[in-house]
Amino acid sequence: MSLDPERARAWFALGVGPLWVLRDEAQTYAAADPRAVPAAGSARAEAIAALGWDELQRAVAECTACALARTRTQTVFGVGDRRARWMFVGEAPGAEEDAKGEPFVGQAGRLLDNMLASIGLSRSGQGDRSVYIANVLKCRPPGNRNPEPGEVALCEPFLRRQVELVNPRVIVVMGRFAVQCLLNTDASIASLRGRVHEIEVAGRRVPAVVTYHPAYLLRNLADKAKSWADLCLAREVYERAAAAA
Ligand code: URA
Repeated sequence: MSLDPERARAWFALGVGPLWVLRDEAQTYAAADPRAVPAAGSARAEAIAALGWDELQRAVAECTACALARTRTQTVFGVGDRRARWMFVGEAPGAEEDAKGEPFVGQAGRLLDNMLASIGLSRSGQGDRSVYIANVLKCRPPGNRNPEPGEVALCEPFLRRQVELVNPRVIVVMGRFAVQCLLNTDASIASLRGRVHEIEVAGRRVPAVVTYHPAYLLRNLADKAKSWADLCLAREVYERAAAAA
């Protein structure tokens, strides 16, 4: 299927996103509306939902669906045990992650590692200590700007497939963009934290706890205590899930 700019603009004017984004067409969509949101349940999302780990990682590495492909050094897929009991989800790679190809390796990452250690988890942990870490976006937004809605929509199927494949017992959702993507709400972190949410993963409801993003905590030290309370809540949720398993 080829798509000329005129037709792309017409699709977006109708509020219908691309069904499939081919390499050559990505720029056409971006030119028509860089913030355009592809239709949920699109053929592209369905194709991604059928991929295994290695195919998924390759699809991410080769993705050119949005303009971030032109400015990234490399994609940042995820790190940790692919069958982890815990999953932590952040926003997008920064400069250091873009250079290394691994999520959360900068200053925010060092704080995240300490947060993980505080509840007995580590990137290389096994069994009850295992965690998988991923971001909503797999490419760095230039200048660390916020992700655009169209970028989130194009990347979301990758994250959802990662969540399905990991099949964690609990998900810790860090920051506004991960919340918007996984919980589908614009509500504030303050209003969502302190209770247990659910994320539907392949027909199963996975408990999720919302907390502040580590980069936010670096700027707002007073909220670290709240984040500690969130991690304790997540730990309780995990222990309940583990006892029931
Ligand atoms: N912030 C994120 O959300 N993810 C990273 O990988 C690094 C910083």
